[in-house]
Amino acid sequence: MEIQEHQITVLAGDYSGPEMMKAGLAVLAAVSAGTDFKYRLHAYPFGGQGIDQGGDPLPAATLAGCRQADAILLSAIGGPRYDGATATPEQGLLRLRQALGLFANLRPTQVTPALAPLSPVKEVADVDLVIVRELTAGIYFGQPRQEGDQQALDTATYTRAEVARILRVGFELACQRRHHVTIVDKANVLATSRLWRRVAAELAPQYPTVKVDYRYVDATAMQLINHPQAFDVIITANLFGDILSDEAAVLPGSLGVIPSASLGLTGPNLYEPIHGSAPDLVGQNKVNPLSMINSVAWMLRQSFGRADLAARIDQACQAVLAAGIYTADLGGTATTTEVTQAIVDALTAQAE
Ligand code: IPM
Ligand code: MG
Repeated sequence: MEIQEHQITVLAGDYSGPEMMKAGLAVLAAVSAGTDFKYRLHAYPFGGQGIDQGGDPLPAATLAGCRQADAILLSAIGGPRYDGATATPEQGLLRLRQALGLFANLRPTQVTPALAPLSPVKEVADVDLVIVRELTAGIYFGQPRQEGDQQALDTATYTRAEVARILRVGFELACQRRHHVTIVDKANVLATSRLWRRVAAELAPQYPTVKVDYRYVDATAMQLINHPQAFDVIITANLFGDILSDEAAVLPGSLGVIPSASLGLTGPNLYEPIHGSAPDLVGQNKVNPLSMINSVAWMLRQSFGRADLAARIDQACQAVLAAGIYTADLGGTATTTEVTQAIVDALTAQAE
C-alpha cells in the first residue's frame, strides 16, 4: 500500500511567528524521521505578511491553501506595525476562523511536574483543565457593529444552534476526561448567557455521567488562581474564553507553552499557540518555541491519529524542561534554537 502523504498548510505569520514556526517544523521533521509519517508543507502569506504583499491579511490563495490542507499550522500574527490600520492581521485571523467554520477552540492548561516549580502561583500541583472557547460567534462577530468617536457599537449574539454545538464539544471532551464541565457566563446580566444556560440544561441529561456547574465569569477569574484544581472542562463564549485562557496560562509559568486546536465540523483543523507574535522579542532568538512545538504534537494526535509521535514530542519536551533548558519567559537562559535543538536531540536519542 502506498503511504499517504499528509498536506500541511503553514502560516508563519508576523514578528516572532517565523522563528516559532521554524522550531515547530524542526521538531516535526525530527519526530517523523525514519517513520512512515510522510508530509508536505505548503507555506502561504497571512496576517501582516498578506497586508505587506497585497493589502489583504487573508489573500484568496491563502484561504484556498487552507481549505485544501489536511491540517493547518499557524504561529502568530499582528504587531505594532499594523496597529490602527484599516486592514489588520487580526481581521485575517477572524475571517479564517469563520470561513473554515472553526467554531471550537480548545485551550489546555496542564501544569506538569517539570513546570510546577516555574509557576508564579503556589498551589498548582494537579492542575489539568481545558478551556473550550466558542470561536466563530458572539461579540467578536455580531452585527450591527459600528466604529465611532462619540459612540461605538458591538453586538453579542448567539443562536441556539451555535450554543448547542460548542456545548456538545465540551460535554464530549469531559466524557474522555474527568466528567466535569463548568459553563462560564455572565447570566446575571447578559441575555446570551441565559440562553447558554437554558440550552445547557436541555443537553445535560444526554450526558448523565457528566457533572455540570455554572459559574459567573468574574468569579471564575478568581477561582482560576485560587483553586484551579476545581476545573476540568470550562465551556465559554468567545470573549470570555479569550480572556480566561490568557489568565489560565499564568498557571504553567508562561503563555509561551500553551498550544490550541481550532476544530470545525468538516475540513481541516487549525493548530496555533494561544499567544501573539511577541514583537518585543523578534530576531533575538528568545521566543519560547514550546507553544508551537506543542501545537505540532496536537496536530499529529488529533488530525493524523499519531498519538505515538505526539507522545514522543511530549516526552522530549518534559525531559528538556526537567533538565533546566528553557527560555527567559520561564525564568531560564536558553535561546529558542537551544531549546529546539535539545528537543530534537532528545527525539533522536529516543529513536536510537
Ligand atoms: C487569540 C487572540 C485573538 C483573539 C486575536 C489576535 C484576534 O487573542 O487567539 O486569543 O482575540 O481571538
Ligand atoms: Mg487571546
